[in-house]
Amino acid sequence: MTAKPRIVLSSDHSAIELRQAIAAHITERGWEAVDIGPMTPESTHYPEHGKAAAQRVVSGDCQLGIILCGTGQGIMMAANKVPGIRCGVCMDTFSARMIRQHNDANILSIGARVVGEGLALDIVDAYLDAEFEGGRHATRVAMIED
Ligand code: RB5
Repeated sequence: MTAKPRIVLSSDHSAIELRQAIAAHITERGWEAVDIGPMTPESTHYPEHGKAAAQRVVSGDCQLGIILCGTGQGIMMAANKVPGIRCGVCMDTFSARMIRQHNDANILSIGARVVGEGLALDIVDAYLDAEFEGGRHATRVAMIED
């Protein structure tokens, strides 16, 4: 990937601070962060935010996404209901690199109540710095899409 992709970020109420820290980190690194909120801490529903981020990606407005809820699990499940989305929860840098290299994941999900900010930023870097390897992995990704 030559041009830096636009990256949509969304979360539920449990992950606002971490989401904003990730957005700032991404921007500092020269990527374009599109933070679609929520911006205020009232309790909210993670499926809505997972769907909103997923729609930004499948529409082509953004090329990648980073979504968060308390565990990263619920919002990941919601995002994966949108056809064309391949989203995985990552709590370690190895998995974050591999979901890009092997699974061509277009959204990364993180649990804000599971990992601290330092690890979360490393996970984001591992995900964004990796590239899809294609080849036999493209065959398998196509099977997922089927
Ligand atoms: C919200 O309390 C919590 O359930 C949510 O952030 C997430 O962990 C769900 O998967």
